Amino acid sequence: MSANFSEALKTRRSVYGISKDIPVSEARIEEVIGEAVKHTPSAFNSQSARVVVLFGEQHDKLWTIVKETLRKIVPADNFSSTEQKLASFQSGYGTVLFFEDQAVVEGLQEQFALYKDNFPVWSNQSSGMLQFVVWTALAAEGIGASLQHYNPLIDDEVKQTWSLPASWKLIAQLPFGAPTAEPGDKAFSPVEDRLKVFK
Ligand SMILES: Cc1cc2nc3c(=O)[nH]c(=O)nc-3n(C[C@H](O)[C@H](O)[C@H](O)COP(=O)(O)O)c2cc1C
Repeated sequence: MSANFSEALKTRRSVYGISKDIPVSEARIEEVIGEAVKHTPSAFNSQSARVVVLFGEQHDKLWTIVKETLRKIVPADNFSSTEQKLASFQSGYGTVLFFEDQAVVEGLQEQFALYKDNFPVWSNQSSGMLQFVVWTALAAEGIGASLQHYNPLIDDEVKQTWSLPASWKLIAQLPFGAPTAEPGDKAFSPVEDRLKVFK
C-alpha cells in the first residue's frame, strides 16, 4: 500500500465530535465528493449511486427531520439521550446522503434476468464502496464524519423536502464537520485469523 493511501485509510475513523469550523471550503468538499461519485466502481458500470450533499441550513433541516421523526416513536423518557446524539450530528457542518437509484437496478434486472437476484446486492456493495471512498477522502481533508442509518424512517420526508426522484432509495447518512474530539481506541482482531494467504 502506498504511504499516502495507508495514511488515509488509518485516518478515517468514526468521529462523533464535530463542529461547523471546517478546515476546507464547500467547493473543495463538492470537488472531493464529485470525484468519489465519478470514480468509485459499480456492478456492470451501472453508476446507480446518487448523492445529496447538505450544507448549513439544509443540513440542520435534515437533523430536525430525524429528531421529529424519532420523537414520535421513541418513548419520551428515553428521548433525551436520542436528542443529544442527534444534536451532536447537527453540530457538524454538513451531511452526505447516499442513495441507490432503484430504476437503474430494476432496469438491469430486466436486461440481465440471469443475475436478477444479484443486482440489489451489488447495488448495496457499490454504495458501501462509495461511502467508504467519500468518508476516507473527507478524512484526508481533515474532516471528521460518522456513518448513520435513519432510513427508512426518514425516507419519505427527505424525498419530499429536497424534491428527489421516487426511485432514489436512501442507504446511509454521513454527518461531517471539523473534528472536536479524538476517536476512542479501537480494538483489532488479529489479522492472521482473518486473512489466509496461499503461496
Ligand atoms: C456498513 C456499516 C454500517 C455502520 N452503521 C453505523 C451506524 O448506523 N451508526 C454508527 O454510529 N456507526 C455505524 N458504523 C460505524 C462502525 O461502528 C465503525 O466503523 C466501526 O466501529 C469501526 O470504527 P471506526 O469507524 O472508528 O474505524 C457503520 C459502519 C459500517 C461499515
